[in-house]
Amino acid sequence: MADDGSGARASGGGPVSAEQRHWNDPGWAASWPRRERLTSEVTGTLLDHLGPVAGERVLEVGSGGGTATFALADRVGSGGSVVAVDVSVPLCDLARSRAGERGIDNVTFVVADAQRADIPGGPFSAAVSQFGVMFFDDPVAAFANLRAHVAGGAPLAFACWRSPADNPWMVNATVAAFSAAPPAPPPGPGVPGPFAFADTAATLALVGAAGWQAARATPCDVAVEVDEEVLFDESFLHVAGVPEERVGQAVEAVRAKLAPLARPGGRYEVPLAFQVVTAVAPA
Ligand SMILES: C[S@@+](CC[C@H](N)C(=O)[O-])C[C@H]1O[C@@H](n2cnc3c(N)ncnc32)[C@H](O)[C@@H]1O
Repeated sequence: MADDGSGARASGGGPVSAEQRHWNDPGWAASWPRRERLTSEVTGTLLDHLGPVAGERVLEVGSGGGTATFALADRVGSGGSVVAVDVSVPLCDLARSRAGERGIDNVTFVVADAQRADIPGGPFSAAVSQFGVMFFDDPVAAFANLRAHVAGGAPLAFACWRSPADNPWMVNATVAAFSAAPPAPPPGPGVPGPFAFADTAATLALVGAAGWQAARATPCDVAVEVDEEVLFDESFLHVAGVPEERVGQAVEAVRAKLAPLARPGGRYEVPLAFQVVTAVAPA
């Protein structure tokens, strides 16, 4: 079941997962706008791989605050539209208010679990995701659901992170060690999280198993210099479940991890190592 917004929780009919709880923390509305400084660097590359044209009706998965959605909306123009699905009520609320402020009216933000939801508005002419598909607990079923929502021959393109070693700026694991939450399993294929699709062969195999054809991956690298708050800040630590009394220790550990990336003026040189996976729905 999809919910078009108003604050109700989205489950897509299934049980509420740890990822759904995580992304519905109200703290993301304050924290994600800083994080987007990184994810937005990828949007141009991702959309170039997808190749949307005027008049298309595109399905986006895991739209967050909507920055890629708005770029897509611009490419498909007033004769096209984007239906952007996200499991997070606070981030969909943020995206909707931004769309209103910017006068963008060819986007619809739907609160739903893209893994299993019946998403209104299809069949879509393309499907896309900027770092929104690595949190599925059953990726093959999820990609099969996305395929069921697009027209025959429609392209899929998504961006996902490569390995933790290639992305030394990602401090989630360092922060998790200070969290009051139960320890997360180590990152890897089959474990929802930012690095779930770091293994290219395993990722292409699961996309194929979900019925998409001609899956291929293109490694991409972008370097960006940012302030510390883009990589972490207190709201990021709170969303990650770090109790107040451990915030100081967590900050120290994170700064130690990031030290090799430090630049003058409190800035950091951040290597974004991701891949763009593309595939096509059977005709
Ligand atoms: C890393 S953020 C990326 C947000 C945005 N695309 C960007 O690049 O800034 C991942 C997004 O995926 C969403 N998400 C996670 N699991 C999802 C699911 N099963 N269905 C829909 N959205 C999901 C989260 O709520 C979050 O907004």
